[in-house]
Amino acid sequence: MDIKKAVIPVAGKGTRFLPATKQLPKEMLPIINTPMIHYVVEEAVNSGIEQLIFVTSSGKEAIENYFDRNIELEDFLKANNKEDYYQQIKKIGEMVEVISVRQKEQLGLGHAIACAEHIIGDEPFAVILGDDIIRAKEPATKQLIEISKKNNFSSVIGVMEVDPDKTDKYGIVAGKYIDDSKKTLKMTDMVEKPKPQDAPTNLATPGRYILSPSIFKYLKEIPRGAGGEFQLTDAIKYQCQKEDVFAHIFEGDRFDTGSIDGYLDATVEFALRDSATKDMMIKIIKDKMARYEISL
Ligand code: G1P
Repeated sequence: MDIKKAVIPVAGKGTRFLPATKQLPKEMLPIINTPMIHYVVEEAVNSGIEQLIFVTSSGKEAIENYFDRNIELEDFLKANNKEDYYQQIKKIGEMVEVISVRQKEQLGLGHAIACAEHIIGDEPFAVILGDDIIRAKEPATKQLIEISKKNNFSSVIGVMEVDPDKTDKYGIVAGKYIDDSKKTLKMTDMVEKPKPQDAPTNLATPGRYILSPSIFKYLKEIPRGAGGEFQLTDAIKYQCQKEDVFAHIFEGDRFDTGSIDGYLDATVEFALRDSATKDMMIKIIKDKMARYEISL
């Protein structure tokens, strides 16, 4: 057995990025010249995922097209001797096999994952949410797959420590550490977006999960939860009460690109990390600071 399938829910409306998202899927917003979803898919592929299941809604066709070949564009680039662009564009179209399923009503993340049950079948699988980009030496999803493999392909929830004031933005886990380095916990509970005073810990998931297929059974049992939606968090809570479920603090830098400040942060950081844009970005920041008389 291995973990070869990942579900990426992309049905959300992206209201925080209106008006851009009136027509454009939020997943296609670029950090410099690369759509956010590209980084997420790259993480999946570099983690050994071979089949992606996008859970979509109407208006999200641009995402499927992005990961498909565009022969007309490829021919144009070839004819105009743009070999580098040609290779880059062709490679994106060949990156991974993509399957799309529709989430016909927006009833929450738990409902979105349940829409992929007939494609996943009886295998453990990954779920990767596109609002966060995680840069790491070893892809975050791969780190979780390793823990799952060591533990009989149990569910593993990727977590990170967050400011205790921010627990109400995330699914928060509770459990007991099983290793001396305090990176992996056997979970006893999971709560969706608790207020700081009600949060059992400050260990939050930014949307990286390995799930054993029994999750589909629990997804059918949960009532509507936080925000009146069917929450994946509640199904994981049920699962950890009945079977071994782990949480793992992954290594890596995480960018909350689903929010405006996280998006700006990623844009500046990615520009500074790339030798093609680093000097440009430094010059722009210096010039602006001088122009607006900003000193640090
Ligand atoms: C979802 C999940 C939440 C998780 C978060 C990560 O919430 O329900 O548990 O922590 O993604 O981004 P959303 O941000 O979609 O409201």
